[in-house]
Amino acid sequence: AMRFAQFKLVLLGESAVGKSSIVHRFVKDSFTDSRESTIGAAFLTQTIQIDANTTVKFEIWDTAGQERYRSLASMYYRNAQAALVVFDITQESSLDKAKYWIKELQKQASSGIVIALVGNKLDLEEERKISKDEAQAFANELGLMYAEVSAKTGEKVKDCFKDIALKLPLE
Ligand code: GTP
Ligand code: MG
Repeated sequence: AMRFAQFKLVLLGESAVGKSSIVHRFVKDSFTDSRESTIGAAFLTQTIQIDANTTVKFEIWDTAGQERYRSLASMYYRNAQAALVVFDITQESSLDKAKYWIKELQKQASSGIVIALVGNKLDLEEERKISKDEAQAFANELGLMYAEVSAKTGEKVKDCFKDIALKLPLE
């Protein structure tokens, strides 16, 4: 039998880590070096085939990372079933911000929410400041998924969304 499921997914993280770039790579398979900072939030959808008879539609809220929008985030994560908490592997401060959002989700979001910690800008490996082991260990400790991706090259972006879909309750 054919299966179809639809899930609300929210992206959170410090400004400029690449949340919008990840979403655009996933939805439009494109990238630009001159993406503008998000105002408020953006809504996009994408449908993917998980296997021969399973289709998943993501309803994606791409939130704004700038401090002045911080209080809006709860509107977007409140009824989300999945969250991508994004940091930039070349920016130390962005992992602290990710930890803040994870804590907030664990306190305020739905109890069954699937959370993935995502290190972006994998194409800048030579500028890396946060080791894969450190971030992976942190994710493991909290029982979160962990992925490293590049919105620029597209590496692992689709896999990341697919892995999340596989953790969601597909009837
Ligand atoms: P806010 O909307 O302000 O919260 O930022 P954001 O997290 O949505 O970041 P955005 O996608 O706008 O990207 C910020 C900058 O990083 C842009 O100049 C992007 O081109 C760049 N960028 C995003 N992803 C990557 C990546 O994977 N590699 C590299 N090298 N640059 C990236
Ligand atoms: Mg953005």
